[in-house]
Amino acid sequence: MPGQDWLEAARQAAVSIPTGCLGGSCGACEIEVNGRMVRACVATVPACPGGRLTVTLACDPHW
Ligand code: FES
Repeated sequence: MPGQDWLEAARQAAVSIPTGCLGGSCGACEIEVNGRMVRACVATVPACPGGRLTVTLACDPHW
């Protein structure tokens, strides 16, 4: 749902997003939303006029 916390939305979808600081500074929770990198712990699900969001987990070898 637009405005929903990303981590909660992922949990409801049975997807685990890795986390670290939970404050937006470490980058452990980065996801890619329609081609834009987003830190899931400090962002919310955006409204999507087209009705479709493409979300992928970022792949960081340090996490
Ligand atoms: S958990 Fe560290 S930036 Fe999100």
